[in-house]
Amino acid sequence: MEEQPQVIVNCAARSLAGVQPPTTALDWLRSVGLTGAKEGCAEGECGACSVLVARPGLEAPTEWTAINACLVPAAALAGQEVVTAEGLGTPDALHPVQQEMAVRGGSQCGYCTPGFVCSMAAEYYRPRRVEFDEHALSGNLCRCTGYRPILEAAEALGVPAAGDHLSLRTTSPPPVVTPGRLPGFARPATLAEALALLGEPGAVPLAGSTDLGVEANLRGARPGLLVAIDHLAELRGVTQGPTHVEIGAALSLTEVERRLEGAVPLLDAVFPQFASRLIRNGATIGGNLGTGSPIGDLPPALLALDATLVLVSAGGRRTVPLADYFTGYRATVLEPGELIAAVRLPLPLASMTAFHKIAKRRYDDISSVAIAIAVDVTDGVVARAAIGLGGVAATPVRATEAEAALVGLPWTADVVASAAAVLARAGTPIDDHRASADYRRAMLGTSLVKFFEETR
Ligand SMILES: Cc1cc2nc3c(=O)[nH]c(=O)nc-3n(C[C@H](O)[C@H](O)[C@H](O)COP(=O)(O)OP(=O)(O)OC[C@H]3O[C@@H](n4cnc5c(N)ncnc54)[C@H](O)[C@@H]3O)c2cc1C
Ligand code: FES
Ligand code: FES
Repeated sequence: MEEQPQVIVNCAARSLAGVQPPTTALDWLRSVGLTGAKEGCAEGECGACSVLVARPGLEAPTEWTAINACLVPAAALAGQEVVTAEGLGTPDALHPVQQEMAVRGGSQCGYCTPGFVCSMAAEYYRPRRVEFDEHALSGNLCRCTGYRPILEAAEALGVPAAGDHLSLRTTSPPPVVTPGRLPGFARPATLAEALALLGEPGAVPLAGSTDLGVEANLRGARPGLLVAIDHLAELRGVTQGPTHVEIGAALSLTEVERRLEGAVPLLDAVFPQFASRLIRNGATIGGNLGTGSPIGDLPPALLALDATLVLVSAGGRRTVPLADYFTGYRATVLEPGELIAAVRLPLPLASMTAFHKIAKRRYDDISSVAIAIAVDVTDGVVARAAIGLGGVAATPVRATEAEAALVGLPWTADVVASAAAVLARAGTPIDDHRASADYRRAMLGTSLVKFFEETR
């Protein structure tokens, strides 16, 4: 990190000198006068704080990526390039997304509007966009306009004009994020350096900050040192070999989805149901497993895929089957200073898979129960079955008894009904504010029957 750490905001360099934890990117932007981005919730739910960050792209050297500025520490922006609603257009020369929002009545009180236009602009500049993907706005809430005019504004967008400066900017790479240190924050240059830093007292790894950001904003978490691992090349690979697929722990879920290009259909079933596009642009697999949460969406899917974790520490590497990773409520086998480097999925994948997320809202909600199912049927007989569950025990679990009630038996409605009854007894579900234990049990059973009906 340069001696005077800077961020390029709306094409002008701004100093981060004096930024202290736990200042968020949102608070810092607003403190320097860029008050377009708003705080609606400070927990990643509303998108009022959305801004654009220049990230390395797959289909263009730079892709404008919308993120929740309320969740990311300001220090994590050092060396990066950001555009806020103020950088899109001016009152006299509105940006096309601002223009469409204005003429189609997409804004009333305006509180949500800067966030909407940033999320919309990210989709506007998406390389090879054919039509507007409405899911780009799934992390933005509006409480007064209603969504129809906003979606009409999005759908009315054409393609960027020749000479559009943000479009031109995508043709060259984003700035190389420079390593260095700010108060309470370190960006190591290499994995070895990160592991050494994680040996310092109070040091914790920071990836997309979608979980740590909420911990800091709502629960007052103040780690001694945040060690940013999201740019480490060693944690950002995707390899597809003859025996397994390996996915780097520090890739965002958006990146994983795009890099895999449909190679793992079960993960493709999870992604659209995982939070919102804004969150998936930050959230990583390593962070999802790093929380140790029993209601994360990836663990059930990764359990059904029979995943193994590659863990790395200053002492070396080891592999741990995901089924052995969770040891109790939010407890895992991770040693202090140890990182998840990658997730390995053995090949061949099961031919029939599904991910059923039962939540109070269709999108952008935490699971009450999550069920991932992977089954192979050969000549009408179940050759293998793997079922991962979330939300029914203190940890994500494999439903081994239900699996045993399927394997070697004909794939018929009767066998599935018997296995569904076994599945309904899996785990130790509890009553809480999301769902009752009875409801969770009922969902387990019906999920397998639904899977059978969908796949036969
Ligand atoms: C609005 C909102 C909606 C959400 N919806 C969902 C949802 O639908 N489903 C779901 O499962 N989750 C959801 N989450 C939770 C969160 O987005 C995920 O858990 C996400 O995957 C965390 O990844 P991250 O990179 O942001 O982690 P961070 O916040 O950076 O880190 C989370 C934890 O993991 C540790 N960590 C990070 N990387 C590693 C690593 N490589 N090795 C070891 N430890 C590591 C950190 O130290 C920290 O303890 C939601 C969060 C928000 C704010
Ligand atoms: S303020 Fe609501 S998502 Fe950031
Ligand atoms: S215009 Fe008021 S919240 Fe959206």
